[in-house]
Amino acid sequence: MQFVSKKAHIDKLSTPCLVLPVFSNSKQAEVTEIFDKAHNKQIAAVLKQGDATGKAGHTLLLQMPAGSKTKRVLLVGVGEQGKTSANDFNKAVSSSINTLKSLPIKTVCSALLSVDVIEKDNDWKIRHIVLKSRESLYQYSETLTTSAPDASILETCQLLATNDCTAKAINNAAATASSIANGIDSAKKLADLPGNICTPTYLADTAKALGKKHKSLKITVLDEAKMEKLGMGSLLSVSRGSRQPARLITMEHKGGPKSQKPIVIVGKGLTFDAGGISIKPSSGMDEMKYDMCGGASVFGVMQMCAELNLPINVVGVVPSSENLPDGDANKPGDIVASMAGLTIEILNTDAEGRLILCDALTYSAKFKPDVVIDIATLTGACVVALGKHATGLLGNNDELANELLGAGIKAGDKAWQLPLWDEYRPQLKSNFADLANIGGPAGGTITAACFLSRFTEDYKWAHLDIAGTAWKSGANKGATGRPVHMLSQFILDRC
Ligand code: BES
Ligand code: MN
Ligand code: ZN
Repeated sequence: MQFVSKKAHIDKLSTPCLVLPVFSNSKQAEVTEIFDKAHNKQIAAVLKQGDATGKAGHTLLLQMPAGSKTKRVLLVGVGEQGKTSANDFNKAVSSSINTLKSLPIKTVCSALLSVDVIEKDNDWKIRHIVLKSRESLYQYSETLTTSAPDASILETCQLLATNDCTAKAINNAAATASSIANGIDSAKKLADLPGNICTPTYLADTAKALGKKHKSLKITVLDEAKMEKLGMGSLLSVSRGSRQPARLITMEHKGGPKSQKPIVIVGKGLTFDAGGISIKPSSGMDEMKYDMCGGASVFGVMQMCAELNLPINVVGVVPSSENLPDGDANKPGDIVASMAGLTIEILNTDAEGRLILCDALTYSAKFKPDVVIDIATLTGACVVALGKHATGLLGNNDELANELLGAGIKAGDKAWQLPLWDEYRPQLKSNFADLANIGGPAGGTITAACFLSRFTEDYKWAHLDIAGTAWKSGANKGATGRPVHMLSQFILDRC
């Protein structure tokens, strides 16, 4: 769906459907009042009857009398006037699109920009109208045949300009938001694909296709022989147990001056995690196809940078492998040598994410990064600690951490910082190698980050554990596209 600005007098609007906000207290928004005056006070009557409540997200579709230039009006609740929260506003957007998407309507005109939202400006409102609408319209269809739902025919959403928001400002903000939404959708699509389709080779091909589409992107794919030459013994030890060969994918967006050091984002692209010899319980194991959500988010962010032609240098790195049990798989007690030279005792083969990430992080130094951010569904412990709402954030530089926390708050795609103190380091001590790949049950998210920190000493680094935030379980099982929005905001703030 496209989002464009619209300048019009609300009382003379010609549209198949107008989305109008209603408040839960009796006084209504000026747009709603002006429209209603020109239309026989029908809305006032409906409100009086109690059919429209103004409760955030409550909708009521009105058919206008024959001959009316506005064919339909969708009343949508935004809570109490002056008290509309970000959450209320988002609910209103989502539920209005959920109502509209099954109707025979191609174009809608939304008056939601006229609603004041607590502590949020026009840019925020436009961003969230676009993102929440696109979220409601997202539909996985790749492997559905007879059960595929009909695609919505919604094509255009016009956003009515207000006194304090020009048409140009609306179109600019909507274009930015649409590219973020495209990135989120791409990340979700990749993540929702099953492990037998979305393999490391599939991800590499997807990167190449992205590179063909966008001039600013340079794609490099390393196969196992090349990784072997670089000494990536840790990464390769994970893929040895799988018939699918590993890939190390890099996507370079060169939008800034040559001398500008890039932001490097590194995403775990584990296309299926059975745990290896330390095999996982079978219940819910299907969800381990999402163990490449970090990598998927890197794809989404790179696409966003390229689409918007952002004037900045960003490098995406995705180490990709499967983790399966096999006669040639890692065994508990095995010791491998990483690219950085450190030897690692593999005490649990299910702690494989850090094994592929450590070599990708060492490799990332070659880009002479300004900062490196890795994104990974790394630990179940993070789900226990922070649940599904906050991404875990750790790192070796508080300025960078604060920048990411701020971007997360702006985007509504939030992170929460955990300590990365030296006190945790002895938990990774091994009698037989430089470090062990697990640190026991205490502070599992922190010791995982501690492990990674041994490979990131030469640059400013942050780690995002998205095990809890990257997907939803249950009836609405599927990827969320997080943290594409947070990272996009982080990059936009630096442009
Ligand atoms: N991919 C998992 C982490 C995970 C678990 C993500 C649950 C999402 C939901 C990771 O590879 C893993 O298995 N981690 C182990 C580490 C442990 C063996 C130290 C875990 O969290 O159990
Ligand atoms: Mn694992
Ligand atoms: Zn994993």
